[in-house]
Amino acid sequence: MTPEQITLVQSSFERLGPQLPAMATRFYQELFTRDPALRPLFTTPLPEQEVRFAEKLTEIVQAMPRLDELLTHTRALGARHVGYGVRAADYRTLGDALLAALAAVLGDGFDPPTREAWALAYNLVAETMLEGAAAARPISS
Ligand code: HEM
Repeated sequence: MTPEQITLVQSSFERLGPQLPAMATRFYQELFTRDPALRPLFTTPLPEQEVRFAEKLTEIVQAMPRLDELLTHTRALGARHVGYGVRAADYRTLGDALLAALAAVLGDGFDPPTREAWALAYNLVAETMLEGAAAARPISS
C-alpha cells in the first residue's frame, strides 16, 4: 500500500463519523446474506459484536501507518479466530461484505481509488490474520 492509499482508507473511515454503527450493522447483514452458515458461529449478541468489530476496525485503521504494531495486532486477532471456527475461505466473504457495507454508507465518496485502497488494506489484514491462525492451529497428522 502506498502512503496515499493509507490516507484514502483513513480519510474515508473518518467520513463515516457517527454512521460507523450503521456501517457495522449493515456489514453483518451483508455477511449473513452472503453466507447464512456463518450466523451460528456468532454466539455474542449481535449489537455487542457490532460494537467490538467497529472498535477493532478503528484500531486497525488508526494503526495503518505503524505497520509493525498493526501486524502484531492482526496476527494475534487471527490466532483467536481459529477458536471461533473461522475458515480461510470465510475471509473472502467477510472482505466482500465489508466493501459492500462501506459502499452503502459512504455512497459516492466510496470512489474506485478508495475502494481499491480498502481492498488492499483488507487483504493485508486478512493475510496476517491467516498467518496468526496457521501458527495457532496444531499441525494435523
Ligand atoms: C478484518 C477482519 C476481522 C476483524 C477486524 C474481526 C474482529 C473481531 C473481534 C474484535 C472479535 C471479538 C473477539 C476478539 O477480539 O477476539 C471477533 C470475533 C469473532 N469474529 Fe471476527 N474479525 C475479523 C474477521 C473475521 C472473519 C473472516 C470471520 C468469519 C466469519 C469472523 C468471525 C468471528 C466470530 C465467529 C467471532 C466470535 C463471535 C462470538 O464470540 O460470538 N471474523 N472478530
